[in-house]
Amino acid sequence: MSEVSVSIVGAGNRGYDAYGNILSHREDTRVVAVAEPDEEKRVRFAKAYGIDREMCFTDWKELLAKDRLSDGIIIATPDRLHVDPLIEFAKKGYRILLEKPIAQSADDVLKILDCKETSGRVIVAHVLRYTPFYKTVKTFIDEGKIGKLIGLEQTEKIGFFHFAHSYVRGNWRNEKESGPTILTKSCHDADILHWLTGRACKKVISRGKLYYFNEQNKPQDASNRCLNCPVEKFCPYSAVKIYLQDNTDWPVSVISTDRSLKARKKAIKYGPYGRCVYSSDNDVVDHQTVFFVFDNDVIASFTMSAFTGKITRTLNIYGSHGEIIGDLESGNIELNIFGKEKKKYEVEKISGGHSGGDYGLIEEFVAWLRNDKNFVSTTLENSIHSHMMAFAAEHSRRLDGAAVSPGYFANLKKSDLNER
Ligand SMILES: NC(=O)c1ccc[n+]([C@@H]2O[C@H](COP(=O)([O-])OP(=O)(O)OC[C@H]3O[C@@H](n4cnc5c(N)ncnc54)[C@H](O)[C@@H]3O)[C@@H](O)[C@H]2O)c1
Repeated sequence: MSEVSVSIVGAGNRGYDAYGNILSHREDTRVVAVAEPDEEKRVRFAKAYGIDREMCFTDWKELLAKDRLSDGIIIATPDRLHVDPLIEFAKKGYRILLEKPIAQSADDVLKILDCKETSGRVIVAHVLRYTPFYKTVKTFIDEGKIGKLIGLEQTEKIGFFHFAHSYVRGNWRNEKESGPTILTKSCHDADILHWLTGRACKKVISRGKLYYFNEQNKPQDASNRCLNCPVEKFCPYSAVKIYLQDNTDWPVSVISTDRSLKARKKAIKYGPYGRCVYSSDNDVVDHQTVFFVFDNDVIASFTMSAFTGKITRTLNIYGSHGEIIGDLESGNIELNIFGKEKKKYEVEKISGGHSGGDYGLIEEFVAWLRNDKNFVSTTLENSIHSHMMAFAAEHSRRLDGAAVSPGYFANLKKSDLNER
């Protein structure tokens, strides 16, 4: 079996835990290089996946400066560092797996469009499309099982502790540093809804705000850090509860490379993950609803919320002759064809890795690198469309729910994308 080689840029949670891990278990792939400024993370990666010293770099530009080192490259750097590496590695001839969001603004999307070398060279990490759950739902719709598609409802249940971890204390808490939640978290949902309907989105309407995680809601006696907070034991968002329990996988793996109790205590004593959720420097929205209207007048309503017990996505899809009801986390799908008996399906359950999405994504990336497949499902062009949907949702929210067209941002015409 011929082997393909891959380099990884950014050896953090995604680069190390997801991609490095999955690729290192494949016989047809070799991870050959890594770029990571944090020495501890770089060394951890090199040790775990057997990378030669001279193939370890402290910055993506250092790796870029070498002649092309591998067939493919994975860009898993922080959100603000996607566009420039994408353009430069594309120019160098790499085939690229790019983390979402592809860009933080519509202007940056245009920069990507201006670089012709990105065309046909990118697979975007919209992992949901690769899950058995969404693949099954898509097949039901495309086979016409529920007749004519009328409408969709999707709810992204982020989960109270996940929201506190990532969007109050963590990397995606602040718009200036990453972007609005509807982009950083829910660009996946815009992508899925665009894919399920198979149509262009023409209008977006949205409302939502940061309802809860701010000083106004801070309990009277609470202190600024959980470790010395007198009301910690009454708080579901407590860092002690999230990081000092038995689990040492995600999200604990994010706060410290050393997962011992001592190291974790230190991380929440001094680091960002020990801050009170009511006194952080977060400003991103914690609850938002969006209506996406497609060019065949199908409407998708979408809600993302911090305030859920489970981490999952649920959906209801309405058709002229039936409905689909599903829950991503449990893998349960109910197909109710009107006048017939309900059918219940339980799709293959894959724990972790975004319900199997990470594995499916890597499977397709490697098949594409091996030339076993000459196309990818999550193209840059599709992702550009769904990112415009997310930008439009944020713009509408800021305008108190005024209708906004995704094309408004870049005057993007469908033909612009088709020409590429
Ligand atoms: N597809 C998904 O479902 C999914 C899930 C989680 C995160 N993400 C995205 O993946 C990306 C990475 O997220 P993460 O959770 O791994 O974050 P992370 O902070 O754990 O990892 C990012 C890594 O990039 C490194 N880095 C910073 N500057 C660099 C540079 N100049 N050159 C090389 N590396 C550099 C950082 O030191 C860090 O280790 C983000 O854009 C995030 O939004 C996607």
